[in-house]
Amino acid sequence: MNIIVKQDEQTLAQTVAEAMAAYINAHPGALLCFAAGDTPLSAFRALIELQKDNKVDLTSVYYVGLDEWVGLGAETRGSCVQVMYDNYYTPAGIPADHVRVFDGLNKDVEQEKTRIQSWIDERGGIDFTLLGIGMNGHIGFNEPYSGLKDGCIYIELDDTTKSVSKKYFDTPLPVEYGIGVGAGELKKADTVFLMASGAKKAEIVKKTTQTPDEAVPSSLLNDHLNVTLFIDEAAASLL
Ligand code: PGA
Repeated sequence: MNIIVKQDEQTLAQTVAEAMAAYINAHPGALLCFAAGDTPLSAFRALIELQKDNKVDLTSVYYVGLDEWVGLGAETRGSCVQVMYDNYYTPAGIPADHVRVFDGLNKDVEQEKTRIQSWIDERGGIDFTLLGIGMNGHIGFNEPYSGLKDGCIYIELDDTTKSVSKKYFDTPLPVEYGIGVGAGELKKADTVFLMASGAKKAEIVKKTTQTPDEAVPSSLLNDHLNVTLFIDEAAASLL
């Protein structure tokens, strides 16, 4: 895997945004899948600035949501749909018909998986994905030992994910299940960006770069032919 280390989170965000803009400029009509979570937010801001400077047209591509907490919708601060619309789709001016995201309020989970998968299939698969690495190495809701599943997944959340979830919500919510794109489906993308920042991610970043291990989902992507790990110096401190 390619590894790019930048001094701090801000410099890292700018580097990731420039690399994303280069990808988008070279692949009009591509299907992109971005993680919500805290890690990519600064890169989204930098990418939107690049669009303001006419360096990229973020409306020239299509998007699919990576995941959602089952039971949560746009009205819940911290849901993936709220985070993505407020921090990316809306400020970037992405047309509604360029985006399809998981509805965590749909009680028919199988129907929801099919709805998203049909969007992915219509567009010929995911071309590019930007993933944050979770504290337990999860990518989206591909939790430890869930492997490289094709298609979309419905999954019981790992204890670490439930515990980390508190940081996203105004008050702790009893999240138990997630819905999202499977790691095998993500691995089919021609380009994968993994991103992590801060000293608290140093240990899981190290494991991400080691022999692929089912216990560390992010490591299952490290043998992808075109994967780049973008980290700041703090997250790189154990490499
Ligand atoms: P974070 O989450 O970007 O908020 O650290 C990453 C993840 O758990 O997917």
